[in-house]
Amino acid sequence: MAFNNLAEFLADLEKEGDLKRISQQVSPRLQITEIADRVMRRQGPALFFERVEGSEIPLVINLFGSAGRMAKALGCRDLEEIAQRIRALLDLRIPRGLWGKISAVLPRLKELSSFPSKVVRSAPCQEVVLEGEKADLRRLPVLTCWPQDGGPFITLPLVITKDPDTGTRNVGMYRMQVYDGRTTGMHWHRHKGGAAHFRKHRSRGTPMEVAVALGGPPALIYAATAPLPEQLEEFAFAGFLQRSPVELVRAKTVDLEVPAEAEIVLEGYVDPAEPLRREGPFGDHTGFYSLPEDYPVFHLKAITMRRNPVYPTTIVGPPPKEDYWLGYATERVFLPLLQWMIPEIVDLHMPAEGVFHNLVFVSIRKQYPGHAYKVMHALWGQGQMMFAKVIVVVDEDVNVQDPKEAWWVALNHIDPQRDILFTRGPLDELDHAGAQPTFGSKMGIDATRKWSEEGFCRPWPDRIRMTPEVQQQVDRLWERLRLDD
Ligand SMILES: Cc1cc2nc3c(=O)[nH]c(=O)nc-3n(C[C@H](O)[C@H](O)[C@H](O)COP(=O)(O)O)c2cc1C
Repeated sequence: MAFNNLAEFLADLEKEGDLKRISQQVSPRLQITEIADRVMRRQGPALFFERVEGSEIPLVINLFGSAGRMAKALGCRDLEEIAQRIRALLDLRIPRGLWGKISAVLPRLKELSSFPSKVVRSAPCQEVVLEGEKADLRRLPVLTCWPQDGGPFITLPLVITKDPDTGTRNVGMYRMQVYDGRTTGMHWHRHKGGAAHFRKHRSRGTPMEVAVALGGPPALIYAATAPLPEQLEEFAFAGFLQRSPVELVRAKTVDLEVPAEAEIVLEGYVDPAEPLRREGPFGDHTGFYSLPEDYPVFHLKAITMRRNPVYPTTIVGPPPKEDYWLGYATERVFLPLLQWMIPEIVDLHMPAEGVFHNLVFVSIRKQYPGHAYKVMHALWGQGQMMFAKVIVVVDEDVNVQDPKEAWWVALNHIDPQRDILFTRGPLDELDHAGAQPTFGSKMGIDATRKWSEEGFCRPWPDRIRMTPEVQQQVDRLWERLRLDD
């Protein structure tokens, strides 16, 4: 079952005991972070804060903070259901060869956008329209998350922009530091969709209209975080996920469409001619502060909202946090697409400690000497996989979903000098270790069994496993041994 808006999602979570209401007044300055952090670490419920100091608007956090809630947000019981739908579109058994595949699959891929967004005339997100002096960001219960943060940050925004050349829309999640009632930072990294639109406006010398939705269909909130190719709009992808079109309405003061079912919408613009402004520091999802950097400024023109809106937010910080589950959804949902392009991939996992871009485990069906290197390079060539700092390739019998197993096997199987490849490439903007921002080194580890054609001439030892017969014998004996007491 898919949810059209936050209220439907929250009602369902509450019914299932997966949402806790907190009526005690709490401070949006650090206090909510400490509470939410403790709950997120144990994959606890979504938290609905009814009374946040300094604001009339209640706040919800940890919407996506467990495997179950993440799947539910996308309208399914298990993320594997979506992976299966994508796999069916790509059906790997059909014609061999790249062109065969492309010609057979492309028409079916259209299904990914077979629920295009639908424009409606009036919408709940515009029940209240605040313009001029009344449009003031200080009405919102924006969190100051960590002690050294440069200020309060809007952390779960859907930033909507339009490509001035093609009209294609982008929805990206980029945090926004609230400077005052009318301006914020716009922290789109240079590799992201919003930043690409910004550069186009800058070269044309035109101001850039921006709308920011808070809330809306949960599948759309997820889609804003997903590494989609530029041509596939997040609105359509969210429609595919939830199996129904996302409803949009024309914004009041900018030429953009916004999700009709959002809780709150900020309308405004970024002026590419304006000097950039210091943004940060911000306690980031790496678990370290991202240092102050210069970013464009968002100017608010209007706030539209529901009569009784809820402000959705999250915190990031030392892993694991809620965002792990958003990344995990991407790992599962995009695996079939990666496998379509790199069919030897059996599975792939980005453990929480690797904060997505630092570590990727991938298991492969090794077919020829040097195969692990081919896979590393292919991954580094796919969209936001370009940020992967360390890729560890193992054989197909290794369960990469269990990082302890993956490290255990990998560390046994490598001869560091022979099996580690250093190369260079783009880095995530949040990587603080590179000598310069966004460009630096990467490491690929070939932890597969080595072949004689790879210059390895000793026998390779078998992994230790008990025989199934003995396991069954002991299963039958087990209760009588009374070792569980
Ligand atoms: C909670 C959260 C906060 C994020 N903040 C930022 C951010 O401030 N800047 C950024 O470039 N990406 C941020 N991301 C990652 C982007 O949302 C992600 O890379 C997405 O694919 C970008 O969409 P785009 O490809 O349409 O630009 C964040 C992700 C999450 C889950």
